[in-house]
Amino acid sequence: MKDLTIHHAKESRVANVDFQNLPFGKIISDHMFEIDYDGKQWVNPRISPVEKMSIHPMNMALHYGQSIFEGMKASRSKDGTPLLFRPELHAKRMNASAVRMCMPEIPEDIFVEAIHAIVGIDQEWIPKIEGSAMYIRPLMFATDEMVGVKASDTYKFMIICLPVGPYYPKPIKLLVEPHYIRAAQGGVGEAKTAGNYAAALYPSKLAREQGYDQVLWLDAVHHKFVQEVGTMNIFFVFNNEIVTPATSGTILKGITRASTLEILRGNGHTVNERDLSIDEVLSRYQAGELIEVFGTGTAALIANVEEIKYDNHFIRLDSSNWALSTSIKDEINGMRFGTIEDKRGWTVPVKEVAVTA
Ligand SMILES: Cc1ncc(COP(=O)(O)O)c(C=O)c1O
Repeated sequence: MKDLTIHHAKESRVANVDFQNLPFGKIISDHMFEIDYDGKQWVNPRISPVEKMSIHPMNMALHYGQSIFEGMKASRSKDGTPLLFRPELHAKRMNASAVRMCMPEIPEDIFVEAIHAIVGIDQEWIPKIEGSAMYIRPLMFATDEMVGVKASDTYKFMIICLPVGPYYPKPIKLLVEPHYIRAAQGGVGEAKTAGNYAAALYPSKLAREQGYDQVLWLDAVHHKFVQEVGTMNIFFVFNNEIVTPATSGTILKGITRASTLEILRGNGHTVNERDLSIDEVLSRYQAGELIEVFGTGTAALIANVEEIKYDNHFIRLDSSNWALSTSIKDEINGMRFGTIEDKRGWTVPVKEVAVTA
């Protein structure tokens, strides 16, 4: 990358990390990447030791929510090579979010090269333990200092890295949200923007108080059709059909979802992306046709769902022998850890960075 400057930490903190007991999202690696948008172009790309940043009280992201992010993972193949999973798709989705939130796009080559650079420098932070990985969080936010509703002229794009353990160590329980919604047609549900997650916090808290891990969202108009889970897309395996809700503008276009669809279809399964009502799920469960339910997402990869509560109804499943979710998990993990051949070219070895400054 042109003009990238690198300022190394004097001493790495990696030796202090207990990789056997990694919490999710609490430990940050040594370095961060930053690049600024000055109103016309992206300038001053740099990697430096992680430190606190000061924020002006008029920072527009704080007031008006122009803030977007991505979530991806780096793993280590069995020969030790650090691998990225489909980074170009994350760059594309980041830019789709940017367009929707009236923010500047980040050139894909800068996004991808910056990921290579930061992961290359902090590769000692990629856990060597199965089930763990290094979570990569690219983010972009407004940096103009002004009170008044308008799009900011200036922005910061950053990447931070966090070694993480498993997101859901066991199968999960979902509560069908009876009242609140996540996103409506024409809204920002398809963008990975901070406000979507803020809006979900209160219903998620109510679900947790009832003993559920996550909310299962229904559509905003009919309050009938299944959408997605807090940080995952969702798949239903019936005896004669696999279904996942169609991405029609209100749900996030998950990269794990797209990968799962490709794997399933490549293995000869028919998967229907369509409207699926919660009543259909319930009645097919009652008829004995529902075999597996699982969520797909970067953080959890594949999370088996063992219970869904919908009004006063309970869908209860035993995931101990699920073949399909296990086969997808094994295939994606096999690629990510280099234990099976990556015929699709989804994993990319981390490249050495050419530093010009
Ligand atoms: C709301 C939401 N849906 C779905 C997903 C799954 O997307 P991906 O598979 O790209 O991680 C995520 C995670 O990023 C999410 O936050």
